[in-house]
Formats: sequence, structure tokens, C-alpha cells
Amino acid sequence: MKNILVAGGAGYIGSHTVIELINAGYNPIIVDNLSNSKEESIKRVEGIVNKSLTFYKADVLDKDAMRKIFTTHSIDAVINFAGFKAVGESCQKPIEYYHNNIGGLIALVEVMREFNCKNLVFSSSATVYGDPESVPIKEDAKLSTTNPYGSTKLFIEYILKDICKADSSWNVAILRYFNPVGAHESGLIGEDPNGIPNNLCPYITKVAVGKLECLNIFGNDYDTKDGTGVRDFIHVVDLSKGHVLAVNKILENSGLVIVNLGTGTGYSVLEMVNTFSKVLGKEIPYKFAPRRPGDIGTCYADTTKAQEVLGFKATKTLEDMCRDALNFQLKNPNGYN
Ligand code: NAD
Ligand code: WQD
Repeated sequence: MKNILVAGGAGYIGSHTVIELINAGYNPIIVDNLSNSKEESIKRVEGIVNKSLTFYKADVLDKDAMRKIFTTHSIDAVINFAGFKAVGESCQKPIEYYHNNIGGLIALVEVMREFNCKNLVFSSSATVYGDPESVPIKEDAKLSTTNPYGSTKLFIEYILKDICKADSSWNVAILRYFNPVGAHESGLIGEDPNGIPNNLCPYITKVAVGKLECLNIFGNDYDTKDGTGVRDFIHVVDLSKGHVLAVNKILENSGLVIVNLGTGTGYSVLEMVNTFSKVLGKEIPYKFAPRRPGDIGTCYADTTKAQEVLGFKATKTLEDMCRDALNFQLKNPNGYN
């Protein structure tokens, strides 16, 4: 059985991916410093897959700790979810973001090279497309960044491209996620942000259960079907399956692969709110507010390459995303606490 080191595996996308790796016959080795997650998520995953998991509480920046893990286990490939991800916070704390995201990636690839493990899947983001010139967005679209978080993703992409150019024995899949939402259908794991959520879906679920009063919809004057922002929301379980396909691919000596992970369909913020209301069986209160600085109007993926290269196709609907997100919120009113 192949060992896949999952850095950041206690987090939102990582915990769901651990399940899909196990379903596909891989053995995940989880590493996380729990800076933005709780060990409880791993316990929940153990309940879902009905087996105990290997977990190390460690920081990817701590090369000695990572060396110990690589010495204990023969690692076939690494998926790196570890990083900070809040756009607004990155503008306040750019040094911390560059240190953790870029420093963490460099430390990780250094240790990987020492152990001759040169297979890596990296969590990039549609944020590297900045304000796209056209949609759907293809992988060869112009890249740009508008905030330090986005810059860390773009700079890491450059670093990984250079690594692959210099040494053809590296196999790297750069996955550009669009907007991951939803939760595992069990309702045992899901997105559990600290404090008041910045992102749309966790904000709505908190409004749905009365923990927050009303959703502010940031902007109703975009050039979109109903004036509100349009995004490519993708169910986290679909996204996680994309990681398994990416691991399969790099283990075939693929070299560098860059793909979008989205559904290819853009839904508006209002469509998302209405679908939540339908699933909940009552109206989600909302009001229109000014545009959020830095936001773009429309963003959705061209999924042709993901299908051709990975055989990836998202199957879950917007209703699935809303139902599963709500289910997690209802079953865990205080998140993992
Ligand atoms: P998350 O915060 O839930 O998961 C990241 C995990 O990494 C957390 O468990 C955190 O404790 C851990 N971590 C952070 N720094 C670490 C370090 N130095 N060493 C070890 N562990 C560390 O975030 P997520 O939503 O699961 O995102 C996973 C990855 O996907 C991130 O890199 C993020 O930037 C990227 N991404 C996320 C989204 C999204 O909307 N959720 C979209 C595009 C890309
Ligand atoms: C979606 C839409 C908002 C909250 C962010 C990052 C991106 C990626 C995914 C990591 C927008 C609107 C939101 C609210 C609202 N992450 N909205 N009221 O901004 O598309 O992408 O997460 O890589 O890099 O920027 O996601 O969920 O914050 O917003 O009206 O309270 O919902 O204006 O149109 P976004 P989001």
C-alpha cells in the first residue's frame, strides 16, 4: 500500500481528502501543526473510515520533525495542504503568510529531495488568475495576484515550475481550486472557521441556524445574471476525489501537471442563498451591501483539461453542497468544540 503524506491533513480539504485516499487504497500519513484545525477532525475521520490513522502534530517548517517522519515511513507522494488561507488577514500579516506558505513549501521540498521522494500535489487556487480577462478560465490564462495570500500561491507555482524544469525526476500536480464548499455527507466533518466567517458558505450556514443575524451580500451591481458575484462552487468531496486522481497521475511519472478543479458552472451569490433557503425550508435573511474591496464579478473554471488529464469531473450539485454544509452546521453547532 502506498504511503501518502498529507500535510495540513487535519484541515477542511485535507480531512476530506484523507477519506478519499483511504477509499482508493492509499495509506495517508497526516501531518498538521493544528494552527487552523483540531485533532478532533482526525478522530471524526477515523470514525468514518472505521480505522485508526497515523497522525503527527508537526510543523512543515520543522525540518527535523519532518525528517523523522520520512525516516519512519517510506513516503511515495506528498499532498501539501499546509498553509494560511485568509485573504484579508494576509494583507495585515504578509510576513507571516510568506513565511508559513512559501517557507513551508521550501522546507518540505528540501526534505522530500533528501529522501528522494519527488512526487507532490500542491493546493493552489483560482486566486492566481487575479481578475480574469474572460470566463470560463483556462489554465493558460494570464496569472496575477491582488493580495499577499494570492502572491504566495503564485510564487509557489513559479518555484515548483523551476524545480520541475531543473530536475525532470520531479512529478508535481498544481491544483487550482475554485470555491470549495459543503461537507462530508455524514455531517461529521466540515468547514469550521474561527470567529466570524469571511467566506460565503460558512457565513450563510451560521445565519441559517441563527448564530448570525443576516447575510450581507457584497454588491448587486456586477455585470452578472442578477448583479451579485458569480463563482464556481465545488463540493469538497468532489475536490478531494480530484486529489486522488492527481496522486494517481504523478505516480505515473507525469512531470508537471497544472489543472483547474471546479465544476465549470458559475452560480451567483443569490442563487446560492436561494438554494440554501430551499434546502433549509425557510428564507435566509439577507441584505445588499457595498462591494467587498478586492472582489471580482465572475470566476468559473474551464474544466476540459482536468477531465482530459486527470479524468476529473465534479458530480455533486449546488443543492448537495448546501444540504451537506447545513447538515454539518446543524450537527455541530459549535464546530469541533
Ligand atoms: P485549512 O486551514 O482548513 O487547512 C490547512 C491546514 O494546514 C490546517 O489544518 C492548518 O492547521 C495546517 N497548517 C498550516 N500551516 C501549517 C504548517 N506550517 N505546518 C503544518 N500544518 C500547517 O484550509 P483548507 O481550506 O483545507 O485549505 C487547504 C489548502 O488549500 C490551503 O493551502 C489553501 O490555501 C488552499 N485553498 C483553499 C481554498 C478554500 O477556499 N478553502 C481555495 C483554494 C486553495
Ligand atoms: C464568494 C462570493 C463575495 C461573503 C475566496 C478567496 C479565494 C479562494 C476561495 C483560497 C463573493 C460574496 C461573501 C459574504 C458575500 N480561497 N460574499 N457575503 O472571495 O470568491 O474566494 O475563497 O484560495 O482565494 O478569495 O470566496 O466565499 O469569500 O465569496 O456576498 O459574507 O460571495 O462577495 O462574490 P471568494 P467567498
